[in-house]
Amino acid sequence: SHARVLLHPGYTVGPVDRRVFGSFVEHLGRAVYTGIYEPDHATADEHGFRRDVADLTRELGATMLRYPGGNFVSNYVWEDAVGPVEDRKPFIDLAWRTIEPNTVGTDEFLQWAEREGIEPMMAVNLGTRGVAEAAALLEYCNGEAGSRWADLRIANGREKPYGVKLWCLGNEMDGPWQIGHKDAHEYGKLAAEAGKAMKLVDPSIELVVCGSSSMDMDTFGEWEQTVLGYTYDLVDHISMHAYYEEHSGDRASFLGSGTSMDRFIRRVVASADAVGARRRSDKKITISFDEWNVWYLQTRFEGEANIPLRPAPARIIEDVYSGLDAVVVGDLMVTLLNHADRVPVACLAQLVNVIAPIMTEPGGEAWRQPTFHPFATTARLAQGTALDLRVDSPTTTTARHGEVPTVTAASTWDEESGAFALFLTNRTAEPVEVTVDHTGLSVVLAGGYRMVADHEPAVEGPEHAAKVAAGCWSELEAPVPSPAAGTTPSLTVTLAPES
Ligand code: AHR
Repeated sequence: SHARVLLHPGYTVGPVDRRVFGSFVEHLGRAVYTGIYEPDHATADEHGFRRDVADLTRELGATMLRYPGGNFVSNYVWEDAVGPVEDRKPFIDLAWRTIEPNTVGTDEFLQWAEREGIEPMMAVNLGTRGVAEAAALLEYCNGEAGSRWADLRIANGREKPYGVKLWCLGNEMDGPWQIGHKDAHEYGKLAAEAGKAMKLVDPSIELVVCGSSSMDMDTFGEWEQTVLGYTYDLVDHISMHAYYEEHSGDRASFLGSGTSMDRFIRRVVASADAVGARRRSDKKITISFDEWNVWYLQTRFEGEANIPLRPAPARIIEDVYSGLDAVVVGDLMVTLLNHADRVPVACLAQLVNVIAPIMTEPGGEAWRQPTFHPFATTARLAQGTALDLRVDSPTTTTARHGEVPTVTAASTWDEESGAFALFLTNRTAEPVEVTVDHTGLSVVLAGGYRMVADHEPAVEGPEHAAKVAAGCWSELEAPVPSPAAGTTPSLTVTLAPES
């Protein structure tokens, strides 16, 4: 079969915000303890953070990290995790039924992120706490000397404000599982008041209001409209969360997950714009897609309530990924790039050990899962501006999403450096020929996410990951013929599964 992609540098979606290559570190399972932080590890730095994990995080290209949750944040008392470590008390984290030691808290995380050159994105607890605690945390992080919470930070050894720019007003507050879950009116009012107070502390911040936990929530749509009704003029972004998995061997639907993500984005944009239109506002709310990934949530996870109460670190949701999962992750990134104008912020959930591209063994190795590779490749190559492509593709019939394009594409171009990238996905196990018409750009290299022969993780760990990585992204070189006068320069590549 055959697909055609048409691109031109004059037609653009918008600049690619580097924050779209974010990830997420939650106090969950082994994300923090024996993930980023393990003082006894051979590679640990003077602060107790694993150098091997930090190096992989750089290689992954994560530009931003969301912290400290996730569900965790909704029963978190941040004040208990600052100051002298020996004075900190453990508590029962109700979200993941884990005894959290509070050894790593706001200062440890923010200083690690700063040393690694990664922008932090913080969340405040609007589950069990409220306006005062949110404003106090912001003052602790960003305040100048001379006020109570900023002075506490200074007394704890950090003079300079952290200058955290991005703030989430709670997490998944529409979800009945959330500690302190609220209906849309309760949450919208609280978010508006907390956000108002926070912007009075530091007007330079950007705020993210909670959207729906997934497109399948009963309250989806209604929730967005209601909470934005309270917060439209105050917030900058609305959050989206989505996890995809293969259900009962339905590979076609799983490979079509990007189409579901695309529809989800369009619906949230429509909901937000409808609120703006009613208010006759020119302001555009953008999206913080602050949790997205492949997660075998319904097929492998037994639910928070079934987690036995244990001290941290506990092994929780350590999904092992396949080449198939990597292709889907690549395709989801194609989808995000095609919405560069409305999705400036996104976080692959999560970074280490918990549904993550990076895995570790306590006291042992750190390695890359197959999903690491499409993320790292895209983060590295997607520069400048996303182009507005026309893709004419055959379609595949899926049980969950109806007809979906077989080939998807995204492309970026950086006028200054001349860097060009084209990302293609073949969502089937059959070869597809793709012709790219690239009037106005000289294209010599394209690349694609495509199926690999062994879909399942036969071997867990580094060898398997390396084997699969070779197949999930391939750079496809195609000679560009000098166009004869009046013709369109084009190249043709074949996206065939690896054998
Ligand atoms: O990323 C894992 C969990 O998924 C997060 O804590 C929560 O926000 C979502 O339900």
